[in-house]
Amino acid sequence: MKEKFDVTPELLKENFIEVYQAAEAGRDTNGEIRMFASPARINIIGEHIDYNGGFVFPAAIDRYLYCAIRKRTDTKIIYNDLFFPGTYTFDVNDDFKFDKANDYANFLNGILSCMKKRGLTFPCGFEVLVASNVPSAGGISSSSALECGFAWAVSETFGFNISRKDIALMGQQSEHEFMNVNCGIMDQYIIATGKKDTAELLDCAKIEHEYVPLNLGDYRFVVMNTKKQRKLADSKYNERRSQCEEGLAALQAAGLNVPDLCSITPDVFATAGSAIKDEVIYRRVRHCVTENDRVLRAVAALRADKLEELGQLLYESHNSLRDDYEVTGIELDTLVEVASKQPGCIGARMTGAGFGGCAIALVHKDCTEDFIKNVQAGYSKVVGYEGGFFACSSGDGVREI
Ligand code: GLA
Repeated sequence: MKEKFDVTPELLKENFIEVYQAAEAGRDTNGEIRMFASPARINIIGEHIDYNGGFVFPAAIDRYLYCAIRKRTDTKIIYNDLFFPGTYTFDVNDDFKFDKANDYANFLNGILSCMKKRGLTFPCGFEVLVASNVPSAGGISSSSALECGFAWAVSETFGFNISRKDIALMGQQSEHEFMNVNCGIMDQYIIATGKKDTAELLDCAKIEHEYVPLNLGDYRFVVMNTKKQRKLADSKYNERRSQCEEGLAALQAAGLNVPDLCSITPDVFATAGSAIKDEVIYRRVRHCVTENDRVLRAVAALRADKLEELGQLLYESHNSLRDDYEVTGIELDTLVEVASKQPGCIGARMTGAGFGGCAIALVHKDCTEDFIKNVQAGYSKVVGYEGGFFACSSGDGVREI
């Protein structure tokens, strides 16, 4: 077996044949094995506002999860993962329910349950082998990559022709109803619709996107993984969502006629904001209002090739997430702080839900090697263990390979 994070589609196919070669009733060893790739994502800017009707600016990156699938002649479903132990066996006629004992298979069953709710039927079963080059629980959407990659693989294999947008919505529905995580639409959407060499300006109120060329000149994004286990992430995430709802309700009760927090401009908030009496809620709302504004300025800066300005907005976003939204913590703050002092780094911020996970930095290509070495040293000195680092390029959304 190959090193983790070094899997190629070829290797996955070889392993698929090995895992599923034994003759057994219901297995079609001559059947076609189809292969799919699903990317990780970074969010360049626009954090914790997808569920507040805001604009976000994510990009799919060139780190992929691969999914190989082959139909069976009976109704059995079999899942294996190259890196996670255990074989999970189900049947297309099962009533899929979340079960902790099913581990990663829950993400797959969640998708199947959403498909069934939409009236889709499975004429036969199938077997699946997954292998991911995306660090898990790392804040660059390993779980959405799995959900959307699997959903696309099943949809294409059974000719369901589900649109990319619907793949994203299904991934989100599965998180809400099956996994009990009240996430926004950003991760699934960018993974389903991403395009190489672009980032996406996604309007989360309308669920519509626009591709923006990702012209970074001599700069690259470096992903910096805290490698911190994110135990509280889901509960804290849901807590932030309710705090936003509370803030919106207070503003609406005071007469502000807006459907969501991101419909409020910084100017309007400067006067209307005082209707929020709770200081914590006030800061949560201030983050959303200012972050939405930063996204639009960041996209304008990128379009005008003003990379330093973009970088500055990344720092401002991080500060707001640290001070107003309080979702960073010592690990992410250290990464960003140490990164900001390195030659060639013009911007950095946490990316994703926070509470651990990953940060990103915009770094000159000639400085990347030293940058990684120095930030690694500075980070481990403070937190006592090493982080994970890699430079990335943009990637494509889910696709067959
Ligand atoms: C997680 C969620 C997204 C989004 C981010 C924070 O990644 O899945 O919907 O809310 O956190 O921006």
